[in-house]
Amino acid sequence: MNPGQARPRSVAPSRTRWLVVGAAGMLGQDVVEAARAAGHDVVALTRADLDVTDARACREALAGADVVVNGAAYTAVDDAETHEPQAFAVNAVGAANLARAAADVGARLIHPSTDYVFAGDADAPYAEDAPVAPRSAYGRTKAAGEWAVLAASPDHLVLRTAWLYGAGGGNFPKTIVRVARERGGVDVVDDQRGQPTWTRDVADLAVRLVAAEAPGGTYHATSSGDATWFDFARAAVAAAGLDPEAVRPTTSEAFVRPAPRPAYSVLGHDALLRAGVEPIGDWRDRWEAAASSVLPPAPAR
Ligand SMILES: NC(=O)c1ccc[n+]([C@@H]2O[C@H](COP(=O)([O-])OP(=O)(O)OC[C@H]3O[C@@H](n4cnc5c(N)ncnc54)[C@H](OP(=O)(O)O)[C@@H]3O)[C@@H](O)[C@H]2O)c1
Repeated sequence: MNPGQARPRSVAPSRTRWLVVGAAGMLGQDVVEAARAAGHDVVALTRADLDVTDARACREALAGADVVVNGAAYTAVDDAETHEPQAFAVNAVGAANLARAAADVGARLIHPSTDYVFAGDADAPYAEDAPVAPRSAYGRTKAAGEWAVLAASPDHLVLRTAWLYGAGGGNFPKTIVRVARERGGVDVVDDQRGQPTWTRDVADLAVRLVAAEAPGGTYHATSSGDATWFDFARAAVAAAGLDPEAVRPTTSEAFVRPAPRPAYSVLGHDALLRAGVEPIGDWRDRWEAAASSVLPPAPAR
């Protein structure tokens, strides 16, 4: 979908009533906080409150909303290889249910997606309209979700993000620091490149996109710059006060996972710039800002 496309007139200009589904997820929690901090009325629904695979329940839950944020997802990338129908039910059917219900009530849907919709074999940042070619089951289900969202309404926003970390969930820097503390050293792949991104920055970007009445379409909600997992692991252990040398480089060949991982998963931010919305800053600066709130305090000796 072209981000320059005009918004339909049926969409209400005031965007004050936010509904966040999947609100207990790592990103969902920060969206609830960011939208409240921006002065919006926010209803937060966890999976227990709303199962997005239930179309009728979605229609009922979305009544009265101006903005809907889909924090619900099947995010177990490796498990999805053997449970693709379950992942599809949440990531594609669930997204379609929310997108149709949002269009019906004139609400704008913000739908997070992933760098895994791309093949990950490029050598320059992926543009928003680059062809999708997912290599994993998870990526296929997320690509289907994107399509369903933009087919339901050109006013909706797909925010592709990647390598997320945040206070409210398990994630890479937390795991690396724990393992480095427990074992004194950890091997981390140095041949996969991407953009470590703070959930709080994605949440803030969602609020800013809505405030700017940004055109519907696809945007890339990742930090700028790029890093390997090894680079990010060293930054994580340094922030925890450990010796960066505790992180040793290894290769994808030595660390095989059930789902293929992209070698180059760097996303460009031109659509944000065209919409006059500032992209998230450089990943190192953002990690420095985030680390103390994301990492648990060092255990007492
Ligand atoms: N994490 C990353 O590195 C990453 C990278 C790229 C893109 N993304 C995308 O960013 C978004 C947010 O990811 P996240 O890391 O915040 O995910 P998360 O922490 O795994 O949260 C997902 C939430 O969705 C809920 N959920 C699962 N099935 C549901 C259903 N049928 N109905 C309602 N809720 C359901 C989960 O509840 P339960 O816990 O009870 O199952 C969980 O609270 C997702 O769209 C993901 O694809 C994430």
